[in-house]
Amino acid sequence: MSRPPAKTVHIKTYGCQMNAYDSTRMAELLAGLGYAESPAAEDADLVILNTCHIREKAAEKVYSELGTLRRLKQGRQRQGANMVIAVAGCVAQAEGEELVRRAPTVDLVFGPQTWQRLPELLARQQAHGAAVVETAFPAAEKFQALSQRKPSPRTVSAFLTVQEGCDKFCSFCVVPYTRGAEVSRAPADILAEAEALARRGVREVTLLGQNVNAYHGGGLSLAGLIDRLSGIEGLDRIRYTTSHPRDMADDLVAAHGTNDRLMPYLHLPVQSGSDRILKAMNRGHTVDHYLRLIERVRQVRPDMAISGDFIVGFPGETEADFAATLALVRAVSYASAFTFKYSARPGTPAATREDQVADDVALARLHQLQALITRQMQAFNRAQIGKTLMVLMEKPGRKPGQILGRSPYLQGVHMEAPESLIGQIVPVTIKAIGTNSLSGHYAPRARTDSVLAFPAPHGETTL
Ligand code: 5AD
Ligand code: SF4
Repeated sequence: MSRPPAKTVHIKTYGCQMNAYDSTRMAELLAGLGYAESPAAEDADLVILNTCHIREKAAEKVYSELGTLRRLKQGRQRQGANMVIAVAGCVAQAEGEELVRRAPTVDLVFGPQTWQRLPELLARQQAHGAAVVETAFPAAEKFQALSQRKPSPRTVSAFLTVQEGCDKFCSFCVVPYTRGAEVSRAPADILAEAEALARRGVREVTLLGQNVNAYHGGGLSLAGLIDRLSGIEGLDRIRYTTSHPRDMADDLVAAHGTNDRLMPYLHLPVQSGSDRILKAMNRGHTVDHYLRLIERVRQVRPDMAISGDFIVGFPGETEADFAATLALVRAVSYASAFTFKYSARPGTPAATREDQVADDVALARLHQLQALITRQMQAFNRAQIGKTLMVLMEKPGRKPGQILGRSPYLQGVHMEAPESLIGQIVPVTIKAIGTNSLSGHYAPRARTDSVLAFPAPHGETTL
């Protein structure tokens, strides 16, 4: 008996790390159904757009992509083949049935909480030939599916979902509507998954959640969970993202000073440096609260790399508000940060405000903020030159003989080194900086600089 030809799936991922994580899990699940991954949509039996709703005109971009896919699907149908088109993720959650109404070429719509039902959804779609829309919020079921996952071939650094959803309702944000309320995964399941990853050679996990530091499962806080994970042999590096200032508990701050597996990198979005705007954003914290948190984290871990998210041009933002954001950035000195121009998301309270900021004003502020943050990032990177950092060797670099690794501060580090070092954490002396990464020499006998001498806050003036 000959085997049926393998089917292929092409997954296009937009947006955040949670989506990238979900796409990998979908590919694993589909591999179990005989689907091989296809790098191109035109050759695929199944195309999944795993969408993000955060950016401007997100839904419109999906509809335009669906127009292209419709033409590819018609081409395949003319040759007697088919293409099942699925829309997943946050746009799927937000648009639901509307997607099928506006783009009848779509066969499947499912939200970020339901990909684990993919085999059943595909079977339903194929049996009935009609479009299937599934936008429920069964987070517990999704967590269970994660627990049953079979990790894909060896990776050195892996993501691990511990929490989903958000109850914060920032006035600009769609996440509480598309991803649902905060839910934490059971510690036993997380530990079992982490142990399985470590057995397969994973050396670093990044704990994922929309509000990861709001984690509370089985009586454990995020710090408690990190403490448990630190007991797993081989799992030498632990990171977490994304945090909210309101949930930055004392035990988590303290853990940065006592747990050497917890990496010195904190992504703590602040969004604005103006208390008036923070209030209008419904952030639930002030500038002072945020700055005190940064100070406390740096007290226990002086070399901490701080990262953040910023929105400029929020409705009602004045020049004075924006100046306050620049002042906060100067006070903190960021190692990296994500900057966004405010974009009105339908259904959010801020979208209907009448004092929207003119686009050219917001764009000019965005460029000014980005220029400042780029200078800070370069200063942070430059401060590593001459230091020997412990680098996790992740994968072959672009050039032959090169390896790409990661510093404790999440910087990419390129160096010449034997491929056999992949999976190890080794000393590398930093020699130079590029636009977004460092380069160095593998220095097996060098002493490491565990604490980084980083220019003091306000060091910006010296750049
Ligand atoms: N406009 C611009 N940026 C946004 N973000 C979330 N919603 C919006 C919006 N409507 C940004 C925030 C958040 C990051 C993931 O995306 O900075 O922290
Ligand atoms: Fe969105 Fe605010 Fe929740 Fe972050 S904390 S996901 S910005 S609502």
